[in-house]
Amino acid sequence: MKIGDKHYRTIWLGDDGWSVEVIDQTLLPHAFELMRLTNVAEAAAAISTMVVRGAPLIGATAAYGMALAAHEDASDKNLQNAHAMLLATRPTAVNLRWALDDMRGRLLAVPQGHRRKLAYKRAAQICDDDVATCQGIGQHGGKLIREAFEHKGGGDAVNVLTHCNAGWLATVDWGTALAPIYTAHDAGIPIHVWVDETRPRNQGAALTAYELGSHGVPHTVIVDNAGGHLMQHGMVDLCITGTDRTSAHGDVCNKIGTYLKALAAYDNDVPFYVGLPHSTIDWSIGDGVAGIPIEQRDGEEVSHIRGVNGDGKGTTVRLVPKGAKVGNFAFDVTPARLVTGLITERGVCPASRDGLLELYPEQAATAA
Ligand code: MRU
Repeated sequence: MKIGDKHYRTIWLGDDGWSVEVIDQTLLPHAFELMRLTNVAEAAAAISTMVVRGAPLIGATAAYGMALAAHEDASDKNLQNAHAMLLATRPTAVNLRWALDDMRGRLLAVPQGHRRKLAYKRAAQICDDDVATCQGIGQHGGKLIREAFEHKGGGDAVNVLTHCNAGWLATVDWGTALAPIYTAHDAGIPIHVWVDETRPRNQGAALTAYELGSHGVPHTVIVDNAGGHLMQHGMVDLCITGTDRTSAHGDVCNKIGTYLKALAAYDNDVPFYVGLPHSTIDWSIGDGVAGIPIEQRDGEEVSHIRGVNGDGKGTTVRLVPKGAKVGNFAFDVTPARLVTGLITERGVCPASRDGLLELYPEQAATAA
């Protein structure tokens, strides 16, 4: 996607041919700065501090983290340590484990002298695949938006509500939930996006609004509690969110608050779709509510809020009484029964084991 006139991905190989460059997402939308990652510890820190975030980008960064480890020392021991260090960064997005297992499996299978080159090649391939996958999600999901437009009589803009940031900043390019929106917008379908601010870290207000604005997609930022009201009053035609882990039965784990949006959508007959790449499906888990680990993050993300003051200077303020106890559950699970359909790179399917296996028959033996 473009920032100004320049096309960016969210992660790429540095000009030196071995270090890795990312966009520091903790500074957006107020500053656009790049960060250079030179070793596995820096890659792990970038993931855990959310310099990079979003399930697919976490996976891509982990893959490059393994490449940085191989660049330093491609021994079995060092690669195993790198795998463990990166895996410990964030527990919910399953793309992390998917990418790490893929990299470790391939690297340990070849002689040590071949590993460095293979690691960079495979990390680049994971990134390219993610772009193609997200484009596929955009094509399939874009059709749903076109149908909604036609259903409305082909005049008024389609109103889509989204939660968190599942756009190009959460992936390598295009995004998952936002790929259908970009595809429809680029095809000339009038579209307007309700952007949930997404407390506590405000990925909607900061990142989704930044992305949509840069691409010229009309949007309005709303507080997280507004969605139900808008749906009750016919102001939302469909919801599309991303997911950090999808169970084999179609339960969807995504940023905290997604479940409440799905409940409101269900109560108001608003279609609720989820965009996802295959790397987000955890075939080993059936019941997502019971089985998916929910990350709990530092309470300071809830008790404090960051922004810029009138002079454009970054500042952090406390919102709660000093010493107040806070809880910071980062994700929740929306049961499959509340999900209208899953938009994947292979097509749209019902949120169910049968639906997913129809698109991914090769997983029949492993699916819970
Ligand atoms: O905590 P984050 O910012 O990594 O959470 C991101 C989300 O919840 C996204 O909506 C999700 O990763 C879908 S990704 C395309």
